[in-house]
Formats: sequence, C-alpha cells, structure tokens
Amino acid sequence: MRIEKTKQSMNAVLGEKRNEGTIGFVPTMGALHEGHLSLVQRSVKENNYTVVSVFVNPTQFNNPEDLKTYPRTLEADIALLKEAGCDMVFAPSVEEMYPELDERTFDFGSLETVMEGEMRPGHFNGVGQVVSKLFDYVRPHRAYFGMKDFQQVAIIRRLVELLDIPVEIVSCDIIREDDGLAKSSRNTLLTPKHRLAAPIIYEALSEAVKYNKELSVKETIQKTIAKINESSLLEVEYFSIVNDRTLQPIDRWEAADKTVGCIAVQAGAVRLIDNIVF
Ligand code: PAJ
Repeated sequence: MRIEKTKQSMNAVLGEKRNEGTIGFVPTMGALHEGHLSLVQRSVKENNYTVVSVFVNPTQFNNPEDLKTYPRTLEADIALLKEAGCDMVFAPSVEEMYPELDERTFDFGSLETVMEGEMRPGHFNGVGQVVSKLFDYVRPHRAYFGMKDFQQVAIIRRLVELLDIPVEIVSCDIIREDDGLAKSSRNTLLTPKHRLAAPIIYEALSEAVKYNKELSVKETIQKTIAKINESSLLEVEYFSIVNDRTLQPIDRWEAADKTVGCIAVQAGAVRLIDNIVF
C-alpha cells in the first residue's frame, strides 16, 4: 500500500492506474472504524484500485473546539487500511490542500438550509470545498459515502451535478455497534456514562419506525424526542422526518414516497447524528 502526502506524488501513480481500470475513492477524516472500512471493502470489491484520503478538513468545522479534539490516529488508520486491501492512502497536510484560502461558496439551495446545514453554518460549504478538491486530484470513477451522514450524501450528489464531475456516487449502509449506536469517530470522545446512555438514540429511532402511520408525524417526532430526553445525559438538538430527496420536513406521511428520520443529539461534549429510513 502506497502512502502519499502530495498531489504530485499521487498523480504520478494514478495517471497510470486510471488507464488500467477503475479507481474507487473513499474520502475520510481518519480515526477509522468499521463504518469507514465497510466503504473501503466495497470499493476494493468494485474497483481495480482504491484510494482512501485521511484528512481532517478544517474548513468544515464550525466549532473550533471540535476541530481541536477531533481524534487523529494516522498510524493505526494506515494499519487498518492495509488490512482492508486499500492500494493508496492520501494523507496531505493542511498546506497541501489549502495553499491559499479557498473562497469558493457553493449554492446547495434548500438542501443546506435544514438540519446539519442549519445547525452547523458553513459546514457543507467546507465539505464541498474539500471533496471537490479531492475529486479533482484523485479523479475517481466511483466514490463511496456512508448513509450515516445522510444529508452529506445529498450534498455530494448536488456538488457533482453543480460542477459536472464525472464520478459515480455510491452510498453505503450505516454500520452500528452491537448495541445499535452508529459507529462514529466521535464515539471515542464519549465519557463512559454517555457511551452507556447513547444506544437509546437508535432504540428511539427504531421505535419511531414502528409507530409509522399509527401516530401522526408530529406525534412521532414528539414521542421520539421525549424518549431520548428522558435520559439526563442526552439532549436532542433536532429530530426531523424528511423527504429523502428534497430533505424538507414532511407534515403528513403521504407527503413523500420515502421518508427518513434524521436526528442530532448532544451527549455531554459530543454531538452525535444518526438516521433511519421509514
Ligand atoms: P468521516 O466522518 O471520516 O466519514 C468518512 C465516510 O465514512 C463518510 O462517507 C461517512 O458517512 C462514512 N461513515 C462514517 N461512519 C459510518 C458508519 N457508522 N457507517 C457507514 N459509513 C460511515 O464524512 C466525512 O468524514 C467528511 O465530511 C469527508 C466526506 C471526508 C469530507 O471531509
């Protein structure tokens, strides 16, 4: 497995690989877990060559404390990627990715005025900046993203449309811990008490799906939030039931063919997100 730190050194290799077969690409911020690795394994299966980027992108953090405490475990990541069959790790410095200030702003329209976009101003613009740069450097045939970040997948699809980038976006299922908590790099930052409380989030989401159509959308939202907030350690920031394409909240079950319940919960100092398809 190659480890590249610059675009030039990466490009020297990828130029050739691009002609030999398909390149699969998995962008990550590192601190890898089985969620990330499931994307890598899928790319390895579906492509001739797999590139994984490990880069904690400063422009997508709206909270400086979150950027500071974000786990960085490059050595362990490299070992896991080797085992997963990755061919190349791209681990650039901030200077390599942003030799100058990136002043581009993207218009993701109503996709970014709700949920994560509303709660984390500038977050998706930063995601757009880094992913468009990475797509430009790697020029993959396919790129893999997890449904854990449901809204991010919609944003990436829009980005690719806006910039007319010839890449196939592949979305992959959420990988969970045995107790249901969605795997996340931030889970390691939970205190033991908060870690114990956190599985209630997925329990509540699963229950919400069971109420489907018996309770109104509004009642489902209220009951789900109440169940989680019963724990003094957790506080729901939002729970929205949205149209899976427009990401706009629905008020009646009939308002969309497919709906997804998206949630953000503050667990002490850590903010967790999750979602479930209805
Ligand atoms: P990061 O949070 O490291 O996630 C990298 C990829 O792994 C994303 O596509 C994310 O949805 C996926 N992922 C994370 N946890 C998962 C889980 N439990 N199951 C399935 N997939 C999971 O998302 C980012 O990084 C960044 O925003 C990035 C796209 C790299 C841009 O900086």
